[in-house]
Amino acid sequence: MKVAIIGQGYVGLTISAFAGEFFEVVGFDNNQRIVDQLNAGVSHIEGVESSTLQKWIKAGRYQATTHGGDISSANLVVIAVPTPLSDDRQPDMKYIEAACKTIGENIKAPVLVINESTSYPGTLRNFIKPAIEKYSASVVEHLYAISPERVDPGRGDYNQKNTPRLYAGLTTEATEKTREFYSRFCDELVEVSSPEVAEAAKLFENTFRQVNIALVNEFAQITNALGISVYETLDAANTKPYGFMKFTPSAGVGGHCIPVDPTYLAAVADQHGAPATFIRRANDVNLEMSKYVVDRVQADNGASLLGKSVLVVGVAYKPNVADVRETAAELVIAHLRKRGAVVSWHDDVVGSWHGEKSAPLSGADIAIVVTKHDSVDEKSIVASAPYVFDTTGKIKGVKGL
Ligand SMILES: NC(=O)c1ccc[n+]([C@@H]2O[C@H](COP(=O)([O-])OP(=O)(O)OC[C@H]3O[C@@H](n4cnc5c(N)ncnc54)[C@H](O)[C@@H]3O)[C@@H](O)[C@H]2O)c1
Repeated sequence: MKVAIIGQGYVGLTISAFAGEFFEVVGFDNNQRIVDQLNAGVSHIEGVESSTLQKWIKAGRYQATTHGGDISSANLVVIAVPTPLSDDRQPDMKYIEAACKTIGENIKAPVLVINESTSYPGTLRNFIKPAIEKYSASVVEHLYAISPERVDPGRGDYNQKNTPRLYAGLTTEATEKTREFYSRFCDELVEVSSPEVAEAAKLFENTFRQVNIALVNEFAQITNALGISVYETLDAANTKPYGFMKFTPSAGVGGHCIPVDPTYLAAVADQHGAPATFIRRANDVNLEMSKYVVDRVQADNGASLLGKSVLVVGVAYKPNVADVRETAAELVIAHLRKRGAVVSWHDDVVGSWHGEKSAPLSGADIAIVVTKHDSVDEKSIVASAPYVFDTTGKIKGVKGL
């Protein structure tokens, strides 16, 4: 069986690496640089080993391409393209639409199309199927299914194999074929009654995180006002053996999922006249955390940051990955610069970002830790400035949330 995977980023390449063991995989991506790199056997994604790619390439079971024609002989197509927000913070479906165009224009015989991209309930039925049909020159009866991706990049304990996978097809045949596909490389498959349930479940998982992170971020502000430690209080609450799940405060949420997916749910709620008040409030609280952090730092430093050199430590959105999408560091830096601080950042995992390079971890007036990678030594962070503010809860003996 030949599997075409549209999008060779975090999700698409990860699935390619797993699928390569059983199928011939064509990884279609419209970024020529990524495609060239992948065909040279070099992975650009944490968690996907270059050696795995090289093994599949050597066995003739993996090829990356920018040519739509190369997917024309596929029997199964997986969509794994970005689903970001537009400038007005609404679901931006242009990448899914482009993927549908590639499929519609190039695949002439019926195949199984599985969407792994995160999107609102109804996307498979009301957007993907009609879009592929619109771009197909003649009527082709494809099968359609959804299996939302739950991978957490950089995580060691859960991966494609041992994370239970939700799935549902638009027809019974699509559901069965989807189960057959994933059962080759996933331990536990969870069938749900409709694609909309799978799509909504994925959005709710991330909304649950978003709302609880906002709650603990607000709680950190309350405990600080009360003069008690948020971490000690959370640890105390966490001794309850049931009914409590610990989340920890931060400078805000980042990444492609938590700041974005809940807005897809809110948008579809709006269309159906249902409330999404928690989602909107949680978004605001998380976005405002960066200002709260900078306010605290300013208050501790003579009420002015004008001309002070501030080093932001860790600009990736979470530890041990190079991903800076929607990172809270961006807002922290913007607030600092607005107040006249001279800002640099240190993150050797990210390396370069917005045309700037990672600065040395030393010599600043103030250091603010936004993300703590395992590779960064705690003592070096403490020594990097006379005043250190930690938003991660990982650095001992310094100021923090
Ligand atoms: N990264 C995660 O942790 C994660 C987890 C679960 C779900 N998701 C979801 O999976 C989807 C993909 O996310 P990602 O993190 O893999 O994104 P990504 O940005 O890492 O990768 C997307 C890839 O798609 C390519 N691309 C864009 N438009 C294309 C097109 N029309 N045709 C072919 N290739 C195209 C890009 O060049 C890029 O390489 C999103 O919906 C995301 O929300 C991501």
